[in-house]
Amino acid sequence: MTNLKIPFVDLKKINLKYKKKFLNFLSSAIEDSNYIKGKKTEELEKKICKVFQCKNALTVNSGTDALIVGIKSLDLKNGDEIITTSNTWISSAYAIELNNCKPIFIDVDKYDFQMDINLFKKKINKKTKAVLITHLYGMPNNMKEICKIAKKNNLFIIEDIAQSHLAKFRNKIVGNFGDVACLSFYPSKNLGALGDGGAILTNSKKIYYKCKSLANYGATDFRKSNHNIIGINSRLDELQAYFLLEKLKKLKADTIKRQKLAKIYDKKCHELGLQYLPSKKNYHNSYHIYLVVVKNRNSLKKKLFKKGINTKIHYEIPIHLQTAFKHLNYKKGDLPVTEYLSKNILSLPFYPGIEEKKISYLFKSLKELLN
Ligand SMILES: Cc1ncc(COP(=O)(O)O)c(C=O)c1O
Repeated sequence: MTNLKIPFVDLKKINLKYKKKFLNFLSSAIEDSNYIKGKKTEELEKKICKVFQCKNALTVNSGTDALIVGIKSLDLKNGDEIITTSNTWISSAYAIELNNCKPIFIDVDKYDFQMDINLFKKKINKKTKAVLITHLYGMPNNMKEICKIAKKNNLFIIEDIAQSHLAKFRNKIVGNFGDVACLSFYPSKNLGALGDGGAILTNSKKIYYKCKSLANYGATDFRKSNHNIIGINSRLDELQAYFLLEKLKKLKADTIKRQKLAKIYDKKCHELGLQYLPSKKNYHNSYHIYLVVVKNRNSLKKKLFKKGINTKIHYEIPIHLQTAFKHLNYKKGDLPVTEYLSKNILSLPFYPGIEEKKISYLFKSLKELLN
């Protein structure tokens, strides 16, 4: 029996292509001594606007910072409520709390694992001021319905597109449906840097300038010594900007590779009788993560690991049950679909360039272990 090693994501394979150019840039950056807020950052922001089809982009230090600053730019008041999901990475909820707002967690749909729209409608009250939508795993939410409900109730829409670079709903790239959207360039993301990084996208000039100031020590004019508002320092450096610029050139092609790969996985999962994210008309998934729903998940995960196959769980403890959010008084059973997923989902190794022999070994092992 072969014992191939299959990483969850092969970042070395993905990033080695850019090594030579990056090292050349690194040496010229040291010669030029231009590290922050230089030409490459500016160029990257322009290219992001073009590729993501948005009007304004501001690079920041991480996806988490993008969420914190993005929400702050909306000038919400203490105690304002933001409806969001618990089936996601914890940053969105932190960003709400760090803005002195209250996250209201609702459950997800049991087929596509994104926000349950009926629950969203039901949870709106006079304190609700915004909805934070995460297009999780690369799967877009139903933005037609969400935008309609948000408009009717005068709610801001914040989109977390950390996992959904270039995903589309009805042919429109996610991040363009709301007031502000937040990108992460964490190394394993579809567009991943060589460290932390993120960006805020918005089609509003007002929000853009507010974010720009908030992320630059609260300064509105960088040549003056006075600072108008309280801000932070959250900026992407030139080295990351250069690396991302190079990688951005391949993002569309890589997204297509992911979508083709997902079709192969879908077929194999279907044969094994596993639940996976559905392909739906008008929902253009960018497949950051390929996950399946399985019984005896933890033991399967261990057995796969013994065979050299690395899998992950996105996410094992839903946010509403995390210790950090104990003060909100959620309890087990409050969000049944989210909690069910946290116990039964398994993310499979999945990345552009994964070799055919690895895919065969992965599904052969799954078949053997599931029987
Ligand atoms: C859905 C989602 N939102 C936000 C973030 C936070 O991004 P970062 O790690 O760049 O702070 C992540 C990253 O893991 C994420 O997956």
